[in-house]
Amino acid sequence: MIPNEDINKIRINANIVDIISSYINLEPKGKNFFGICPFHDDHNPSMSVSSEKQIYTCFVCGASGNVFTFVQSYENTTFPDAVNIVAKKIGYNLNYKTSFNKPNKDLLAIVDLANKYYVNNLNSELGKSARKYLSKRQLSDAIIKEFNIGVALNNNLSKVLLEKEYSEKQIINAGIANKGKNLYDIFQNRITFPINNEHGDVIAFSARVYSDETTNKYINSKENLIFKKGNILFNYDKAKNEVNKTKSIIVVEGQFDAIRMYSIGIKNVVATMGTAFTKEHIKLLKKLNVKVVLLMDNDEAGIKSAISSGEELIKNNITTEVIKLSKEKDPDDYIIKNGADKFIEIIKKPISFFEYKLQYLKSDKDLNKSKDLANYINNVIAELNKSDDDILKEITINKLSEEYGVDKEVLTKQLIPKEKKIEPKKIVKKNTPRLNKYDKVSETVLFMMMKDVKYIKNYDRNLGYIPNKEYGQIANDILAFYKINGDFNIADFITYATKNSSYETVLRIINHYDEKNLDYEEFDYYIDLIKKWIKEQQINKLKNEIDNEPDINKQQELNDLLIKLKKESE
Ligand code: UTP
Ligand code: MN
Repeated sequence: MIPNEDINKIRINANIVDIISSYINLEPKGKNFFGICPFHDDHNPSMSVSSEKQIYTCFVCGASGNVFTFVQSYENTTFPDAVNIVAKKIGYNLNYKTSFNKPNKDLLAIVDLANKYYVNNLNSELGKSARKYLSKRQLSDAIIKEFNIGVALNNNLSKVLLEKEYSEKQIINAGIANKGKNLYDIFQNRITFPINNEHGDVIAFSARVYSDETTNKYINSKENLIFKKGNILFNYDKAKNEVNKTKSIIVVEGQFDAIRMYSIGIKNVVATMGTAFTKEHIKLLKKLNVKVVLLMDNDEAGIKSAISSGEELIKNNITTEVIKLSKEKDPDDYIIKNGADKFIEIIKKPISFFEYKLQYLKSDKDLNKSKDLANYINNVIAELNKSDDDILKEITINKLSEEYGVDKEVLTKQLIPKEKKIEPKKIVKKNTPRLNKYDKVSETVLFMMMKDVKYIKNYDRNLGYIPNKEYGQIANDILAFYKINGDFNIADFITYATKNSSYETVLRIINHYDEKNLDYEEFDYYIDLIKKWIKEQQINKLKNEIDNEPDINKQQELNDLLIKLKKESE
């Protein structure tokens, strides 16, 4: 168990806006921050994060909580692990070793050690020819350092790791070594590019030959518990902090391209590392909530990749643009041959994915031939039918009509009229339960208690009990929390309530009543109402007993009691 004292300290020192920003892009709006909710298939920023209250709430799916519940849900982990992750992010020294995820921890430690080892190699005497290669490719020392580029030399690392008392199995699982007759290093005589996860931990390597060009140019760590190639975009950990400024993220193929662009100041760049675009890539990009600019290699494969990735992005409602490299193989080549300024000029002028698609459709056709032209126009119409942008349709039809002399009406007829768009599956917010008068009063009382300790004290003095199991429990917990801590705040109470009260109800009350203009003067009146409710319940209970009491004398006694109670409640 992590001591409560630590949990509270970490919570207080971790600003929820900063922590959530390390996962999703947040933008200030009014006194709150907004971002794409990661807990449902969100298209507009529906998650609000309050720095005042230190809680988040999605007004579409209802996900809500404090910094720990966010990390716990996002990372899909345990509460202690979430506390640990937050502690690490704020540099809080928590001497708590999570038992959970131990295998991952060891793999991360091994990969991290390997990385340090490779970096160290590069700076050593034996790293000279690797350094020469990097200098030939015009990477500065600063950039080499920033990306932790290193070199794997001979078959040494596995031995070092074994000496550190990692097992053969762990070293193999971490993707560092394989076993033939003996354990041997997978990366040898290669420049190493560490691959980070979105939090900046090194999880794998992509390693390039620098002397022997006869083997595979790059080899990458094999997939394991901590590294899934399709879940990773190279440089995402750095790029995600840039997109607030740039409002766009550029996707390239090679890590060398990403590093080169980064080195000339274009830091909002990620690399797919030669894999096909996956659902996870889309998710990572979508979270940033900015437009995506595709900048693939200038070859057949690059064009295919731009088309298929673009289709996927558009399907996911992500604004997508494309930059075409007119000459040179890839961004790295382009920058080296033409200079940074020229490159910066061309990336200022991306075209829309739609435009790119039209150019692509034209590319294998001779539009002087009627058959090709008809084919092309039909393809364009098919593209338009995928879109629901009426203005784009109008403009495109006009253009087609002018350029190729086809009657506008004929073209328009081909458009499928916008049917009632099938709404994506609606996420139904967890139903607000039907509340009777007393429920509403109880919730208002609880809300006021959570807003000001004055009302906690008042409740303690004048009521001390709510005749509804759930509300009663919450009130007890608020009171207990106040007595333990001498104060009350909602963000810490959530941690506490997770274990005790009905945590979802607490959040519903906080979020629901906050927007209302409550009359705090009425607190005493609400307390009286609840007292009345308690009396009513006693009266009903008594009536019931009287009805079921066979003994006439006892019935009379109960009747007297009833009259007394009724008088009191008037
Ligand atoms: P490229 O062949 O375009 O390499 O592969 P590059 O980025 O231009 O690399 P340099 O400039 O020659 O150093 C694009 C990406 O595909 C992956 C790598 O991640 C590379 O960055 N790849 C490529 C491999 O995984 N294995 C290979 O053999 C080649
Ligand atoms: Mn290249």
